[in-house]
Amino acid sequence: MGIHEISIQQFLSLDDARCEERIVAAKAALGKHLVILGHHYQRDEVFKHADYTGDSLKLSRQAAQSGAKYIIFCGVHFMAEVADILSNSEQIAILPDLAAGCSMADMANLEKVEQAWGELSAVLPPDEHITPITYINSAADLKAFCGRHGGIVCTSTNAQHVLEWAFSQREKVLFFPDQHLGRNTAYRMGIPLEQMVLWDFDKPNGGLTPEQIKAAKMILWDGFCSVHQQFMPEHIDHFRANYPDGKVVSHPECPFEVCQKSDEVGSTEYIIKTVNASPPGTRWLVGTEVNLVNRLAQESKDKFVDYMAPIVCKCSTMYRINPQHLLWTLENLVDGKVVNQIKVAPQVAAEARLALERMFEVSP
Ligand code: 13P
Ligand code: SF4
Repeated sequence: MGIHEISIQQFLSLDDARCEERIVAAKAALGKHLVILGHHYQRDEVFKHADYTGDSLKLSRQAAQSGAKYIIFCGVHFMAEVADILSNSEQIAILPDLAAGCSMADMANLEKVEQAWGELSAVLPPDEHITPITYINSAADLKAFCGRHGGIVCTSTNAQHVLEWAFSQREKVLFFPDQHLGRNTAYRMGIPLEQMVLWDFDKPNGGLTPEQIKAAKMILWDGFCSVHQQFMPEHIDHFRANYPDGKVVSHPECPFEVCQKSDEVGSTEYIIKTVNASPPGTRWLVGTEVNLVNRLAQESKDKFVDYMAPIVCKCSTMYRINPQHLLWTLENLVDGKVVNQIKVAPQVAAEARLALERMFEVSP
């Protein structure tokens, strides 16, 4: 066991094939002490090493259940934070590259959300009238905010169940950071668009009048995913003109018009299951990140899987996790060193866990 951690520099020039051999060897050396979780947007060279793959909900459950000492999360920062929050104090969550954030998660922060809560209190007492919901794609301190204000976390899988619970508590919802998941889910539940307002976090009072706030059921944070924002209703029109019998499946982070024109809307795991369960010969247009779609196209030998946008929409932060960084974290662990641990402060973790536990209670 060396004294110092092994530097990343000597790994960056390794080719993927050499990394692969060494990753397999390091995993074998760590055995049951290690679990690697891989989100569906991970590139193939990393995804193949995951012990469990899935969407955010499935992987958070996996992190909570795992007995492994080291949980390496091949995903983005908020996912590794959730793994740390839900695992026990002996377990260590690791993100192979700390630059793997989520640009949507960064669109809301505690200062702006607390400011919004304060401004809303000038119109009506928010703790009596508004349930805060944070999409799991958010920093731990926003989950903690929801924990202490009677709120909850949601994922793309359980957003409807979470919203139903939220409305059973209070008559309004403040939903952040993804406006599209909030709008698409609420509309599907029968809430008309007229009862939804957009909170512009750069404007005083979100750019809204007290009357607009009082009339709204859903207050949607003006955040979005830059990857899913690229999918357009015209892409679906073009596909349907060429393939009238084709089917369209989209992620709920896509804009409202895209989801409205889709046959199916759901999480990454749902998209994969839906395509896999369809009859041979079905042609699908898929509106989500390119690594998932390419893998699905390769694996669905008896179906046709098309990518929704004419340009490649890649999650550049997910892509930061490469075999070189994964190997670096693993070989350090073999050497007894922990690099890139993600640790949430205990008080924040306790309140965030409350909001996550409420979510698990209402999830299917
Ligand atoms: P899922 O929970 O559906 O995997 O979504 C996570 C995500 O970040 C999609 O952009
Ligand atoms: Fe975040 Fe969008 Fe990447 Fe998902 S695809 S991790 S929402 S930036």
